[in-house]
Amino acid sequence: MMRTKGLALYPGSFDPFTLGHLDILERACRLFEHVEVTIARNSEKTGFFTTDERKALIEASAGHLQNMSVHIFEGLLAHHAAQRKAVALIRGLRQVSDFDYETRMAFANRRLAPEVETVFLTPSEEQALTSASLVREIHRHGGDISSFVPAPVHDAIMRR
Ligand code: PNS
Repeated sequence: MMRTKGLALYPGSFDPFTLGHLDILERACRLFEHVEVTIARNSEKTGFFTTDERKALIEASAGHLQNMSVHIFEGLLAHHAAQRKAVALIRGLRQVSDFDYETRMAFANRRLAPEVETVFLTPSEEQALTSASLVREIHRHGGDISSFVPAPVHDAIMRR
């Protein structure tokens, strides 16, 4: 299959990296020549894993993908994308409730870096409800998260 030339960034908090994230990443890797998972260090979200732990867990979970790498960025995503000369920003869109937040971010990023296109991908139906916050909540109340996260993430969460 012909992949779009150039670099796509897949930005997020990934706290933790879920099977939904992996699903989107696999789709992005089929579409683009290279995909960089970019973890925001200064995310306002509450930390579950450190950014370095998240990076290691994504690498362990997505090792089967040849054309991707994992990086940590600080500051504005648009600046990082322009600096990396990325052609696209990948974001997962699950249902209409994601739409407001995602379009707001896409418009802001476009104004700051007009040459970078935001590309929305939809996960498989099985992962349509998966989110990192849902995983954190289920785990907090002692529920089984094994159907929501890759095995390395599950193991790391159970070790804590
Ligand atoms: O997985 P998330 O938490 O939905 O990802 C959000 C993320 C990290 C992509 C977004 O908060 C971000 O880009 N943060 C970096 C700072 C930035 O550029 N903010 C303005 C976005 S319009």
